[in-house]
Amino acid sequence: MSTEKTFKLDGKSIPFQDGDTIMDAALRAGEYIPHLCHNPEFAPHGSCRVCIVDVNGRHMSACTLPAAEGLEVDNSSERIMEQRRNILQMLFVEGNHVCPGCEKSGACQLQAVAYYTRMLSPHYTHFFPKRSVDASHPDIAIDFNRCILCELCVRASRDVDKKNVFSITGRGLESRLVINSASGKLGNSALSASDKAVSVCPVGAILPKHVGYDQPIGDRLYDNKPISVVGDVASANNQQENAND
Ligand code: SF4
Ligand code: FES
Repeated sequence: MSTEKTFKLDGKSIPFQDGDTIMDAALRAGEYIPHLCHNPEFAPHGSCRVCIVDVNGRHMSACTLPAAEGLEVDNSSERIMEQRRNILQMLFVEGNHVCPGCEKSGACQLQAVAYYTRMLSPHYTHFFPKRSVDASHPDIAIDFNRCILCELCVRASRDVDKKNVFSITGRGLESRLVINSASGKLGNSALSASDKAVSVCPVGAILPKHVGYDQPIGDRLYDNKPISVVGDVASANNQQENAND
């Protein structure tokens, strides 16, 4: 008799190991759960809520909920997709996401998840916040209008690059990303183009310079296959790095 531990995701048995979250086990089994602040290389953060699933009748974040035997997880019902669309619509109106003018268009995880959940409009009134663009660094620009406060750059710079270039300050609607440098500008920070923090942004907020629009429409990350097949920006980057080795 098999002693493998499993839970049910949309009726399928998903094996898991001790310490796995629902997200860990699902992604390992090839099952996509939408996510933005989650990256398997970092500890769960649980802030974006896009990974919301229904677990035995309760709405939970798949990236933080430990897997356990007997769980019945709904990842794809219309009710769950509607919840995710609401969360995405709020993310879109809280910032200034002008997809046609963004060089990350076609390779943006926020845009790809919105397509996946069949979000057709922002629904809510746009906040149109006044935010800046910092192009003071010779190799990297940051557009704060597109930041969704996922803290991936914060975690990557702190835990991998050991530089602490980024922090989040403020609370609630006042929360914002800041640069840790004497002037508060990227150009005076320790960030370099090869840093992990530059490659983890799931939206078009942190952008390497000199390579903008180099992918023609039709060849961009999510042009031909949906995010449920291609995976998140981080895993696509890793596959690209492995292919280049
Ligand atoms: Fe996340 Fe990008 Fe904002 Fe950093 S700049 S917090 S990676 S959205
Ligand atoms: Fe789970 Fe963001 S991916 S809360």
